[in-house]
Amino acid sequence: MRILGIESSCDETGVALVETTGDALPRLLSHALYSQIEMHQAYGGVVPELASRDHIRRVLPLTRQVMSEAGVSLSDVDVVAYTRGPGLAGALLVGSGVACALAASLGKPVLGVHHLEGHLLSPFLSADAPEFPFIALLVSGGHTQLMRVDGVGRYELLGETIDDAAGEAFDKSAKLMGLPYPGGPGLSRLAEQGNPAAYKLPRPLLHSGDLDFSFAGLKTAVLTQSQKIGPAAHTEGAPERADLAASTQAAIVEVLVKKSMTALKTTGMKRLVVAGGVGANRELRAQLNAACAKARVRVHYPELHLCTDNGAMIAMAAAMRLQSGAQVAEARYSFDVKPRWPLHELA
Ligand code: KG4
Ligand code: ZN
Repeated sequence: MRILGIESSCDETGVALVETTGDALPRLLSHALYSQIEMHQAYGGVVPELASRDHIRRVLPLTRQVMSEAGVSLSDVDVVAYTRGPGLAGALLVGSGVACALAASLGKPVLGVHHLEGHLLSPFLSADAPEFPFIALLVSGGHTQLMRVDGVGRYELLGETIDDAAGEAFDKSAKLMGLPYPGGPGLSRLAEQGNPAAYKLPRPLLHSGDLDFSFAGLKTAVLTQSQKIGPAAHTEGAPERADLAASTQAAIVEVLVKKSMTALKTTGMKRLVVAGGVGANRELRAQLNAACAKARVRVHYPELHLCTDNGAMIAMAAAMRLQSGAQVAEARYSFDVKPRWPLHELA
């Protein structure tokens, strides 16, 4: 069975084709991605209306590219999957509308996918694929969650952020340091030249005894610290700026690592899956690798280029849902989107 996946929930248009054979793990045949980041950088963040318009421009050319790279024609597609939520309503409507129109014209069924389930299952696309059950650390631009995952569609929320997401903490702190949107990757590069112990920043909820996170206070502490430092906090080449980046990253990473290890310990699980854009962070990976080795826990990540939003994870999640029987694809082409949609509400 061949499944086409379309992602358009935020500022990346992603299209991909996966193939399933029996119960074997689905195989990625091809995928194509267009990132709108450059367009939004002028505004310091994603402009929803511009995002929607650009998805309209990109989605069909990307689909053609995916089909031609896989050497498959549209009539060979069995199911069209699309991101139904969560995300920007207008952006979601583009991918959903195109997916349903395409499927209707081909007479094939459609499947709406949860964006975070896509992230969660994206490590199954890597050579070192995990096995169920596991603890998942979901760290994207909009979400920070620890989940217990017993199978496809069997997600139990263990803890989550009560305010900002980890990705948001990276992005907002990076902005204070004068780095372009989205600041996570830039902040982490800058941090490599800095001293993570230079500034004392809070580790919110580190000892709260539960698995919740809070990053809004950290952002305020970074602001206060940057005001104390003065212009050097956002001046290119200033050592203080690199030190601030390293100290910020250290605070975020320490909380994520500690809470993940607590989740593993309290559930007795021996496997951790990290997913979402922040999962690309090198320091986070290094520290999780070290902590998991010590605790004899296996840790899995998506391939680096599949950490941030892409179509492959949407096609993959659809394929795994179909294989597991969690959902069937239907030839019903009326659609709605779910801009807010908690993952643990997904059956
Ligand atoms: O999963 P994602 O692509 O989008 C959402 O679904 O939200 O995550 C984007 C987030 C942004 O906040 C971005 O700054 C962050 O992931 N990010 C990183 C890195 N790469 C992406 N944060 C820290 N270090 C990175 N290397
Ligand atoms: Zn995402």
